Amino acid sequence: MFNNSIDAVLLADPGGGVYAANPEACRIFERTEDELCQSGIDCIIDTTDPSYYAVLKEWNRTGKFKGELTLKRKNGAIFTGEISSAIFKDKNGHYKTSIFIRDITERKQLEKEMARLDRLNLVGEMAAGIGHEIRNPMTTVRGFLQMLEGKQDCSKYKKYFNLMISELDRTNTIITEFLSLAKNKTVELKPQNINHIIQALFPLIEADGMITDKNIEIETSEVPDIALNEKEIRQLILNLVRNGFEAMSPGGKLTIKTFRDGDEVVFAVQDQGGGIKTDILDKIGTPFLTTKDYGTGLGLAVCFSIASRHNATINFETSLCGTTFFVRFKM
Ligand SMILES: Nc1ncnc2c1ncn2[C@@H]1O[C@H](COP(=O)(O)OP(=O)(O)OP(=O)(O)O)[C@@H](O)[C@H]1O
Ligand SMILES: [Mg+2]
Repeated sequence: MFNNSIDAVLLADPGGGVYAANPEACRIFERTEDELCQSGIDCIIDTTDPSYYAVLKEWNRTGKFKGELTLKRKNGAIFTGEISSAIFKDKNGHYKTSIFIRDITERKQLEKEMARLDRLNLVGEMAAGIGHEIRNPMTTVRGFLQMLEGKQDCSKYKKYFNLMISELDRTNTIITEFLSLAKNKTVELKPQNINHIIQALFPLIEADGMITDKNIEIETSEVPDIALNEKEIRQLILNLVRNGFEAMSPGGKLTIKTFRDGDEVVFAVQDQGGGIKTDILDKIGTPFLTTKDYGTGLGLAVCFSIASRHNATINFETSLCGTTFFVRFKM
């Protein structure tokens, strides 16, 4: 039972020394049983976790603990573990501690993802509620501005009228993007090939890149048709491509890839920019999160929303040498 348990199991003394560790414990802590026995419990617990002292207190009071703690692997990487531990008396009458640990990193990630989707849906619902109400009066204002702009009396203010109209159009675009975050938005999906959508978009992407002197490389490989909404996928591609362009200095290269990975079709956009800023890493996809002077911070939120309507997932790899966004569609 000890050796085959899917949970990590440690046998320890109440002072923190370790007597035995099963294979799963060695796997999650990336240490051999000997190493764990030598260094004891202290080397696997992140003592900077604020809840650690509360746990210790409860442990001293009751001899038991059940809950979550931040743990450390050998290379210093931290992860959340679900722990249940209790003191017992062995057959010789000595006090021992059994510690069962489950690595719940994946569950935590899923919870985070669900919370992000909930936030997105809430924003989307609010947007849907007020979006239409704002648009109608805006259309009226825009109509009058356009009418006045054409009048002889107003000709010396033409520049201002144009500015007002383009600002209104910009607001309208933001509202449109915002509305697309709505949870209950339904789109029609049709089996088609993502490579064809990329081909059709290429002239637009190329022109976009040319303005700021960025190079584009397309590395598509044969992939099966998947259920897509063309309009939404175009939007998703453009948002990711534009972020890639914006992240790079002139001369940088953006690579657009498609490939098959197991039962998934993957679309990837790789740039040679400076990477995503670390302070926003775990908030990526939150509406209105932007580090750009003229950004709205809706591009990625819209991408996540489109991906969820396609039952696809988005993840990314980022470093100081660049960022790659992967969109994974189920076949
Ligand atoms: N490829 C990338 N490289 C580096 N940082 C990125 C990349 N993509 C996104 N980011 C970061 O994530 C933030 C949010 O991106 P998002 O596309 O949602 O908004 P934005 O680009 O700022 O504005 P917009 O609404 O115009 O797209 C960006 O401001 C940027 O800091
Ligand atoms: Mg963007």
